[in-house]
Amino acid sequence: MTLPILRRRHILLGSSATLLPLSSLRAEMLAPTPRQTEGPFYPTGFPADMDNDLVQVRGQQAQAMGEVLHLKGRVLGVDGRPLSGTLVEIWQCDARGIYDHPRQPGRDRRDAAFQGYGRIMADAQGLYSFRTLKPVAYPGRTPHIHLKAASGDGRLLTSQFYIAGDPQNERDGIFRAAARQPGQRERIEMKLAPAPGVEAGALATDMDIVIG
Ligand SMILES: [Fe+2]
Repeated sequence: MTLPILRRRHILLGSSATLLPLSSLRAEMLAPTPRQTEGPFYPTGFPADMDNDLVQVRGQQAQAMGEVLHLKGRVLGVDGRPLSGTLVEIWQCDARGIYDHPRQPGRDRRDAAFQGYGRIMADAQGLYSFRTLKPVAYPGRTPHIHLKAASGDGRLLTSQFYIAGDPQNERDGIFRAAARQPGQRERIEMKLAPAPGVEAGALATDMDIVIG
């Protein structure tokens, strides 16, 4: 996987604070995932089932409507070290564009087989994974998945992921603001690919979350 980098102009070393020029030493820093608005639909109450499989609600036969997407990656600091133990949350609307939220008009028409929210703790390597849906548009927004990541050392990132190449992205003000820099764009655009080895008919994407 290629990772966008930011380069520090200088590095301070030790107590002597020796200033080394760019040409003599480079520290490669990862571009952080851009911070974006939480939006109005973060859950006011959590579902009974809030595991990392949003497509299947525990105790229900039906699977959620929509295209299954396996979303996974690592949670990293800008220095590239895995941030194990980070709590990663995602939430999104169902295949009809309806959130499970009191502020959602037509909430009663939502797909009750879609969990809508899920969470997982990143493992020792910083890995997280979700089985969820390819996001769909709703009025005023391009398709997106909301996320929050809370690291063990108290850092919190709120952001959103989008579908790379979706023509609606460029008309979405939140996307445009978050994608100004090339390194940031790569952090929020999900490149979707079929994943027959993971699940027949499903899509997969690999998205590292970099907390600055
Ligand atoms: Fe949203």
